[in-house]
Amino acid sequence: MLTSPAPFPAARFRRLRRSAALRDLAQEVRLSVRDLIWPIFLRDGTGAEEPVASMPGVARRSVDRAVAAAEEAAGLGIPALCLFPYTDPAVKTADCAEAWNPDNLTNRAIRAIKAAVPGLAVMTDVALDPYNAFGHDGLVRDGVILNDETVEALVRMALVQAEAGADILGPSDMMDGRIGAIRQALERAGHADVVIMSYAAKYASAFYGPFRDAVGASGALKGDKKTYQMNPANSDEALRLVARDLAEGADMVMVKPGMPYLDICRRVKETFGAPTCAYQVSGEYAMIRGAADRGWIDGERAMLESLIAFRRAGCDAVLTYFAPAAARLLAAGG
Ligand code: PBG
Repeated sequence: MLTSPAPFPAARFRRLRRSAALRDLAQEVRLSVRDLIWPIFLRDGTGAEEPVASMPGVARRSVDRAVAAAEEAAGLGIPALCLFPYTDPAVKTADCAEAWNPDNLTNRAIRAIKAAVPGLAVMTDVALDPYNAFGHDGLVRDGVILNDETVEALVRMALVQAEAGADILGPSDMMDGRIGAIRQALERAGHADVVIMSYAAKYASAFYGPFRDAVGASGALKGDKKTYQMNPANSDEALRLVARDLAEGADMVMVKPGMPYLDICRRVKETFGAPTCAYQVSGEYAMIRGAADRGWIDGERAMLESLIAFRRAGCDAVLTYFAPAAARLLAAGG
């Protein structure tokens, strides 16, 4: 319930904006480093940090450098990393078998990070696109993205990630029925404590462009993802998807992208009260960083303003490529 203000001049809203101390006291939500999940990109090799051209400040890291990032995250107080592999085009196939290879790049990185920094939560991506000759999140037959066959493949992929020590599995593929199938398989395999963060409301978005460059999927992708990712015009559908994924055993739900979909974050949080996350995706990062690098906006202020918006919209946590930069600013009094 909102109280109606007294008539002017009894109510003067500027009274509480007069000093930093008063503004602090009246502040409704806060951003903490503890709300951030840092997505990082993996590549083969050792000692490698290869810049991603469309995401200035972001690199593809070999496993040893990913461990260094994990140590950096822990030192900054960031609670979780999320791993995305850049896969050698030579191992991309139509059956996507590399996805459930226990020694693939992601699974090796999970083991190395959990061994070095056990307290840091490791999140993974459960989707076939990094391993798919067709660049899609699902198996493709005669140009059609198959649902039920893909779900079986995702279950295999999820189980090897859980086996490798992942704390949070992030199914980002938008196939129907995958949360329930993964949850049941985890229970049966003795991984009852593995968290599922469902990419429940994931839209078919132009804002994923730089990410697809980062993971090397842009060249492989044939067509678009509109038969499985959501139509950006829909909002009730997002609530139905969240309801479905929670009923199937998701522990947390995600809205993606972030900034263009803050209304969805708000509706999801208000309707379900479940742990709700947003993914501030690659294109959102690139827009802010790109403008800041040209001196068109104040990059630090724009970054923190974009992140507090997620908290205001009701999100509990945010996946953001700004995580380490934001953590440093917050530690300095941001
Ligand atoms: C694919 C996946 C995508 C992202 C995370 N997982 C891209 C896509 O759906 O094409 C995007 C993340 C970003 O843009 O930062 N499984």
